[in-house]
Amino acid sequence: MYRIIEKKKLTPESVFLRVEAPRIARRRRAGQFVILRIDETGERFPLTIVDSDPEEGTITLVAQEVGTSTKKLGRLKEGDSILDVTGPLGHPTEAENWGRVACLAGGIGVAEVLPVVKEIRAAGNFTQAIIGARNQDLVILEDELREAANELYITTDDGSYGRHGLVTEVLHDLINDGAIPDRVYAIGPLPMMRAVADLTRPYDIPTIVSLNALMVDGTGMCGSCRVTVGGETKFTCVDGPDFDGHQVDFEELGKRQKIYIPQEKCSLERFELSASGANVKE
Ligand SMILES: Cc1cc2nc3c(=O)[nH]c(=O)nc-3n(C[C@H](O)[C@H](O)[C@H](O)COP(=O)(O)OP(=O)(O)OC[C@H]3O[C@@H](n4cnc5c(N)ncnc54)[C@H](O)[C@@H]3O)c2cc1C
Ligand code: FES
Repeated sequence: MYRIIEKKKLTPESVFLRVEAPRIARRRRAGQFVILRIDETGERFPLTIVDSDPEEGTITLVAQEVGTSTKKLGRLKEGDSILDVTGPLGHPTEAENWGRVACLAGGIGVAEVLPVVKEIRAAGNFTQAIIGARNQDLVILEDELREAANELYITTDDGSYGRHGLVTEVLHDLINDGAIPDRVYAIGPLPMMRAVADLTRPYDIPTIVSLNALMVDGTGMCGSCRVTVGGETKFTCVDGPDFDGHQVDFEELGKRQKIYIPQEKCSLERFELSASGANVKE
């Protein structure tokens, strides 16, 4: 069992958790993730390890409450425990001294990009974090990113905070102004990562995307996280989550992300009904 030491709401839709997991806290590196199962009836689902404290034996997770498992997680309280936390999983993010690196993130990807920015800056790079949210209320971890990156740019879809527009527009302007990054890293919704890869392709800027494929076992055995990269089949959990964005078949990945939508919808309706006290039959 993995005890929740600290819990706070970051926005109405996202939750920050510090969880006791000493072995994972000692071994974890930037870009890696865990697979959680909240209770005996819960599904397995992945979350990035946003930070860790090896001395204290804790890891930090940030989850956007989109469906049954993440909403269940969001309802746990400090002192409650999570049944299983497996990890650290996946390859750590590669970090060399490339020069200037732009790290783009959208939505909950902002939490996932924080350890990457820290790692890439520690390797000697000038880091430009470009983060986006739908509106001001959904901007998360601004102070942490301002401290972690050399420069921070914020965009909102509705213009309520930062620049009105998309993160790709900031990158486009940087490139046009001659501040061409030596490498780009993108994490967030699939359409956003695809747009970043499309933008950097003509300039030949190496572009890494962190893929959020559907995962179950996290060990390369079940095949649910299969993606096509450069015409080859890869498993996001063991070969990724980071891949060359110019080689990813986003079309196929987008279709695979949607295959369980009817089941996810049904599961969420049942969860919300039972959380409201209604008697839901198995
Ligand atoms: C390597 C990796 C790291 C991730 N890190 C984070 C993170 O730090 N914070 C965060 O909020 N989210 C993260 N995600 C996404 C998170 O796993 C899903 O949002 C979560 O599984 C949704 O489950 P649910 O039951 O709440 O929602 P559901 O209703 O089951 O699903 C909602 C949507 O989430 C996606 N999803 C569902 N199940 C999975 C699954 N098992 N694996 C991956 N995606 C799934 C699908 O697109 C689905 O349509 C990460 C995903 C991956 C692959
Ligand atoms: S999650 Fe099963 S193969 Fe990757």
